[in-house]
Formats: sequence, structure tokens, C-alpha cells
Amino acid sequence: MATERVTLLSSREIEKMRKAGSLAAELLDHLAPMVKPGVSTQELNDEAERWTQAKGAISAPLGYGSKKNPFPRSICTSVNEVICHGVPNAKEILMDGDIINIDVTPILDSYHGDTSRTFFVGEPAPEVKKLVEVTEECLYRAIAEVKPGARVGDIGAAIQEHAESNGFSVVRDFVGHGVSNVFHTAPQIPHYGRRGKGKRFKPGMVFTIEPMINQGTWEAIMLDDGWTAVTADGLLSAQFEHTIAVTADGVEILTKRA
Ligand code: MF3
Ligand code: CO
Ligand code: CO
Repeated sequence: MATERVTLLSSREIEKMRKAGSLAAELLDHLAPMVKPGVSTQELNDEAERWTQAKGAISAPLGYGSKKNPFPRSICTSVNEVICHGVPNAKEILMDGDIINIDVTPILDSYHGDTSRTFFVGEPAPEVKKLVEVTEECLYRAIAEVKPGARVGDIGAAIQEHAESNGFSVVRDFVGHGVSNVFHTAPQIPHYGRRGKGKRFKPGMVFTIEPMINQGTWEAIMLDDGWTAVTADGLLSAQFEHTIAVTADGVEILTKRA
């Protein structure tokens, strides 16, 4: 992946990414009111799959990955200490005070819209809300760095500065990624790094930024299911993700809400 070349998308392709991206945002808007104490992550998954099919789209996560261990659900639901790639389950019931990241990727007309948000279940504690708010700010500060000529390291630096100055840490094991008619491709976008380092942005680059920010250590552990990544210390983790395009003079968020 590191040596793969970065593809620049045509305006026709970016228009398709915009349609897939708005569908992804609309799906999160559709699921948001379901996020309440008592709902299972499986119910969120099933509604996401039903809605996606009704829109003529395909859930990219379902069956994604290796033949030996394909992802078994249509969305990722990552609750509390789960960093990412949580697997929806009928026995996992949301409780008041939880946080849950819902990560969706519908494929529309062959192009992927990849976006996630962390939602409050009922009323989390103030320090938990703070983690979630800082994580969303990290995403928007990172997006603000993107324009032709700026570099991949500027994104990581902006995220790391904001997270760490608030006493939080940045997950290293998972990165943002190029996305198009391919789910995960070059470039890799780390959420930590140094200003002025890394690849320069060019118009037509399309990739995700998806910072995962932890209360305690940044270190992750993979559960036996081969997908669920949790914090090594069991403290909370939050995440927000947008798919973005580098434009002639800045950046466009392709997964923004209507
Ligand atoms: N949507 C995730 C991302 O942001 C990828 C999920 S892959 C899955 O890249 F197989 F876990 F669903
Ligand atoms: Co992604
Ligand atoms: Co995603």
C-alpha cells in the first residue's frame, strides 16, 4: 500500500463520490434517532442494510477483507473502549452513558462513501462528552489543513496537537486512506505526524480522515474475532470520519450532511 501510486480522480468520478458520500451521510442521519438505551447494535446494522438496499446501494463492509475472515456485518459499531471495526451483535445492548461510533460505507454506482460519527447514548458523563467533542474538532482541524501543496504530515500534526493538548492520545494502528471505486487504497493518512512531512496534496486526490482519539494509552489490542480493536487499557475511544477531495484551491467534504 505504501508504494502504491495515488490516483487522481476526474470531475466525473468526484461527482459519483459526492453522490455516494451524501448517501453515506444520509444513512448516519437516518440511524441517529435509533441510538438510544435498549437498542442492540444488530438492530442498527439491520436497519442500515435495509435502508442501503432500498437506495439501490451496497454495504461495502459486508464480506470485506480476507476470504478466511470476511467482515460479517454491513456497518461497524464501536462502543466505548472499542476503537474501530466493532461487529454488530444482537447481545450488545446500548446503555445510558455509552458512546457508539457508527461507521458506514455504502457503494453507489461503484463509488464508496465512507463516513462515521460518534453518538451519545442518553447522557454520558462530562469528561466522556469532552473526548467526543475534541475528536470531532480534530477531524475539522485536519480538514482545514488540506489544500494543494500542503502535506500529509500537516494533517497528523494538527490532530496530534489538539488531542494531546487536551490530555488525549492518537491511535497509530489505523489510518485514513484513499477511497474511490476501491475501498482502501493509497495514500495512507496517519492521524499523527510532523508538519511539512509526507506527500503533497494535489487536486483530484480523494481520501478519508478518520482520527481515533483515546482517553488513555493510544495502544490497541485486536480481539479474537480478528476485527474488533479495543484500547489496551480499557479506557474510552472516539472517532469521526469524512471522505474529502482536494480541489484546485482547497478541500471539499464529500460526506457532508445535506
Ligand atoms: N469504514 C472503515 C474505514 O473507515 C472500514 C471498515 S472495513 C470493515 O475504513 F470490514 F471492518 F467493515
Ligand atoms: Co475509512
Ligand atoms: Co469508515
